[in-house]
Formats: sequence, C-alpha cells, structure tokens
Amino acid sequence: MSAEELAALVNNDDVLGFSGFTAAGCPKAITIALAERAEKEHAKGNPFKVGMFTGASTGDSIDGVLARAHAIKFRSPYQSNQDLRNALNSHDASYFDLHLSELQQYLRYGFLPRPRIAILEACDVTDDGKVYLTSAVGISPTIARLADMIFIELNHYHPKTLAGMHDIYEPADPPFRREIPLYSPKERIGVPYIQVDPAKIVGIVETNLPNEVGAFTPADDLTNQIGENVANFLSSEIKAGRIPASFLPVQSGVGNVANAVLGAMGSNKDIPTFCIYTEVIQDSVIDLMQAGRVSFASGCSLTLSTPALENVYDNLDFFKQKMVLRPQEISNNPEIVRRLGLISINTALEADIFGNINSTHIVGTKMMNGIGGSGDFCRNAYLSIFTAPSTAKNGKISSIVPMVSHLDHSEHSVKILVTEQGVADLRGLSPIQRAETIIANCVAPEYKDILRKYLQLGQKGHTPQHIAAALSFHNTFNKTGDMRNVNFDNY
Ligand code: COA
Repeated sequence: MSAEELAALVNNDDVLGFSGFTAAGCPKAITIALAERAEKEHAKGNPFKVGMFTGASTGDSIDGVLARAHAIKFRSPYQSNQDLRNALNSHDASYFDLHLSELQQYLRYGFLPRPRIAILEACDVTDDGKVYLTSAVGISPTIARLADMIFIELNHYHPKTLAGMHDIYEPADPPFRREIPLYSPKERIGVPYIQVDPAKIVGIVETNLPNEVGAFTPADDLTNQIGENVANFLSSEIKAGRIPASFLPVQSGVGNVANAVLGAMGSNKDIPTFCIYTEVIQDSVIDLMQAGRVSFASGCSLTLSTPALENVYDNLDFFKQKMVLRPQEISNNPEIVRRLGLISINTALEADIFGNINSTHIVGTKMMNGIGGSGDFCRNAYLSIFTAPSTAKNGKISSIVPMVSHLDHSEHSVKILVTEQGVADLRGLSPIQRAETIIANCVAPEYKDILRKYLQLGQKGHTPQHIAAALSFHNTFNKTGDMRNVNFDNY
C-alpha cells in the first residue's frame, strides 16, 4: 500500500505506537503522510491530533513533522526534537516523561492508553507474521501485540541479513514474572523476530530510506578532558580493588560527552577490553570494537552516523557475533543492571553541591529531552557516574548550583560526579562533606567562592541548605543573564 493509504486509516484521537529507538529503526514514510493529512484536516477546520508512544527520541520524520503539523495530542517517553520541544513547552502537546524501562509494562498494565495502531519499520516480513526489525527494537514487541492494526514500513535500506541481530523477549507480568534469565551481556534469551498475527498487518509500505541520526560533533578539549577524568578514575578504582580486574560491563549515555568518555576509556591501557550493556550503541563503540577494545555490545539501538552504520552493514558477519539488540525493558532493566553490575555513565544538565541531578529541565521549567534511561541505570548500577561540563553558556551558567532547579536523580543514586575540572567521589560522605568535595573538585574556579559562601549561609541542620537562597543562582540568571552576579548580602 502507499503511505497515504495507510495514513488515511488513522483517526483523530487515535493512539499510535512506533518502532525505533532514537532516530534508529523508526518509520519515516507513513508519518510524513500523516502530518500532511493532519494539515489538510486542520485547514478544513477539523481537529486532528494523535497520541504517540515511541521507544525514545525519533527522527524528524516522526516528531518533527507531526509537531510542526500540530498533530500531537500527547507524547511519551524521551524526545530530542527542537520542534517537538517547542510544542511541549508551549503546551501544544502534552508530554509524559518516564523511565524508559517502564514504558512497555506500563502499556501492558493498562496504566497508559492502549495503542490502536503499531507502525513498525522492518527489514523483512514473512507470510506467517514474523517481523524482523531494523536498527533498533524499542517498544516494538509490546505495541505489536497490543495494537489492533499493524502498519509496516519495509525499508530496503536495511539488509535482510540484519535478521539475527535482535533478541526479542517480553517478561510475564506480575504475579507471574520470573527472573529474566540473562546472566551476561552476550546471552540471548528470546527469538530474532516479533511474531504477530498476520491478520493484524493491514498494509506494508516499501521504502528505501536511511536513518536520520545526526552526525556527532567531534570531541573537543572539554569533552576529552571529561573523558580522561572518567577513564583515570576508573583505572584507579581497578588498582584499588573496588572494580574487578576483569572489569564490568559499561553503560554509557547519549551525546558527545558519552562518545568522548568511551573513546578515553578505549585509549586507557589500564582498563582491560570491556563489554557494553547499554541502550544506545553510538559510533565510538563501533570504533572500539574494530580496535579490539570492546568485545561485545548489548543495546536497544544502533544509533550510528550513516558512515558508521554502513560500516556495520558491510561487515555484518563480524558485527553480528559482537552485538545484540534488545527491547528497552530488557536493555534498561533494573534487575539486569543490578545483576550484571554495570558501570553507568550519564550526563547531567545540572548538579547541586549535595549530589542531586537535573537531567531534564532548563532552569527548572523548560523540558530539554527527558529522563531517558538515566534513572534505570544510575539507581541500580554497581557504580553510577554523572558527567557535565562545569559551566554552560560561556560561563554564565554554573552547572553546579546550591539546589537543582528540578530533581531527576537524587543524592542517593549518584556516586561519582565528573566535570572537566575533576572528580568528586561522593561515596560514604555526609551532605556537608559532599558539598565540600564537589566544590573543591568539580566547580569552575569563578564559582567556587560563591558556592563556599552559600554553604556558610546555611550551616545549621544536616543538609546545610538555605531555603530562601537555594535558587538564587537561577533567580539571578533569570534577572541578569549571568549566575556570576549572584549576591548573598541580603540573606
Ligand atoms: N542550565 C541551563 N542550560 C544548560 C545547562 C544548565 N545547567 N547545561 C547545559 N545547558 C544547555 C546548553 O547550553 C545547551 O543549550 P543549547 O541547546 O541552546 O546549545 C543545552 O542545554 C544542551 O546542552 P549540551 O551540553 O549540548 O547537552 P548534551 O548533548 O551533552 O546532552 C543532556 C546533555 C543532559 C541534555 C542529555 O545527556 C540528556 O538528554 N540526558 C537525559 C537522558 C539520559 O541521560 N539518557 C542516557 C541514558 S542511556
């Protein structure tokens, strides 16, 4: 069928579920036709908005086109598209942000509206209803099972030989759930396809479209320094005997800092060859695999630039031995994270001197992307590390403040904080000790004295917070555009 024919089957107020995770493995044709349809309906004065569940962020051909067409009623979970971000922050679309590992079970439990239509990108489909996904899994098995109708984009850009890369497994729901029988990143516990009732497949659109993963900004001095600090810290933990000499599987977050951290770990001779157990497999993992520094990667998506993905497809025999793609409730599963003992490394927008983390909200109000898998991993990791540049906006913002303007990860889940300035090891420290350690090791020089002064304002009590002055950094930024203007004289 054509994308337009399938888009015509979608009603105003429908709930849709999409394959993919990040811009990898997402549909890209039916959604464009759907956005055009929405615009036509709006021009006639008719309402046309849909509810949307995705794995995580998507490409512009889902979130971008539908946000610009004002066709999104609600959206969950993670996103990273500027037009969608504008829609969420202006309340044109409502947004429910949640831990990525929870979405599939939330849908099964009926906590969220059931998707009526699942739109899946596949590299192959068989007559008996076996759907072989492309470069990501996301929530696909669950939405395919729950939906009444399945639309498929059979994307010939992805080779059929990709079949075998995926390990599809859905746990039973309580009270029948057993342990997830995965004891190392390399194991497979499911099947390489999603089995659906063929009668539910309403139509297949054939496409030949690359993923819409943006190119990475090359590492710079700042991200390289953060990477070096993480790698040196981890090698010192091995020497101290707090990380096994054989090392542990690594989860690494999204973005350029994460790429630089993995690069630095790969170059550090004191860190042995390691495994990855993560949600997003980025370019740096592929480089490290080919260099023999990463022995295996389990993830939910191949979020690779086009040249890196083509490298994988050109060498599929090599990479299929070294990678597996899983649904996000497995790649991010707290039970597995705790069992495998992951070293988790995620990026914060903002941290406070007591070790709390804001991963999502710009100056407390504007949604940036969402919590993603950061909470799934950091709460349950063997060792959870957060990284961030010590300042943003050319020093006008200190990423380390007296009190975070929005809380995503509490002091109880955050063990190590790393900026380009250094490393703060927060394990076993009281709030005042954490504050002194973070100020000494992670804060930018121009903010150290300001934060020390803040600490003196509130010395009484276990956590020396000064409630009236706690958000003074943000208040000052909102008023003057520069946190360095903060003045505590009136407190
Ligand atoms: N206050 C206000 N703005 C800030 C800020 C702060 N403390 N720190 C950064 N910013 C701004 C930056 O200036 C930049 O603004 P711009 O878009 O106008 O240039 C923007 O926020 C993003 O910062 P940047 O450093 O480019 O972000 P990033 O690409 O390194 O991503 C996160 C950082 C936190 C947004 C990203 O890692 C994320 O979405 N994390 C949550 C999900 C997650 O951790 N997933 C991983 C699980 S596997």
